[in-house]
Amino acid sequence: MSAAIKTQSTIQLAPATPVIGAEVTGVDLRQPLGARTVAEIQQALDDWKVLVFRDQHISDEDQLRFGRYLGPLTPAHPVAEGLPDHPEIWERQASEYVERHRPDLNIPLAKAPRDYNGWHIDITFVANPNSYSILRGVEIPPYGGDTLFTNLQVAYENLSPQIKTLVDGLQYVNGTSAYDTEGPPRRDGRKPGPFVSVHPLVRVHPRTGKKSLFISPGGRNGHIVGLKQRESEAILDLVRAESIRPEYGFRVHWTPGTLVIWDNQATAHAGPIDYALFTGKRVVRRITVAGELPQGPDGFRSRPLEGELFNVIG
Ligand SMILES: [Fe+2]
Repeated sequence: MSAAIKTQSTIQLAPATPVIGAEVTGVDLRQPLGARTVAEIQQALDDWKVLVFRDQHISDEDQLRFGRYLGPLTPAHPVAEGLPDHPEIWERQASEYVERHRPDLNIPLAKAPRDYNGWHIDITFVANPNSYSILRGVEIPPYGGDTLFTNLQVAYENLSPQIKTLVDGLQYVNGTSAYDTEGPPRRDGRKPGPFVSVHPLVRVHPRTGKKSLFISPGGRNGHIVGLKQRESEAILDLVRAESIRPEYGFRVHWTPGTLVIWDNQATAHAGPIDYALFTGKRVVRRITVAGELPQGPDGFRSRPLEGELFNVIG
């Protein structure tokens, strides 16, 4: 990480790579932010896609106030429940990942399956995924539990012109897995799925107008509308591989009090990438800012095929 670059702004940015990620200083998220600071953070998000704030030992209410500067908030998740007193907040503990992905806890680590590919865009099984995700480290182990991010706009921009032309007009269908739909009724009475949506494979960013690839790179249950299965798989394999080239990426090492916000309209992420390999306790709390229906270069708008739209709490 380079030293902070001094600017005339109220915030200071230290970019982490040429294309994605910056650390932000000069902001105390325990306090309300002025309009100029909020505008600078929004501009920094447009420019760097992932912003990291360190040493922000904030409350749930502080996190919610910060999120609302960027737009109305959603419930914690369309399937999973939020905290009882804060339905906007989704708490994740590393042990949940272990239970979900590694039921073989009694065998030695070296024999554990290592086929996890967690690269995703948040909540694309609904037609209107969130615009921003804001994740805060509550309890963080001294090492392990890092999160990877990739810039899907740069991934698109670096495709050959002929491939851009091919993918610009495509849509794909994407839905929840069986795991996600098996659960008790939600406290808010909404149906926890199943959800199935159709999205443009290339998304035009609602603020900047820039195009990005728009499919979860680690997903395996999507298919492109109107294509034969082998054609769909070949194109999706190409798009997914291009999405996560290492030169488009950035890795966040968490520390206590770290808060990360990412533009879910232009990035994908994977984390905690090594959940199966560390035993330290890791607790994080996430909120999400409501998003619009994604739009493709040809004007196509995402739409639900099954399940409700993601709702807004405010
Ligand atoms: Fe995520």
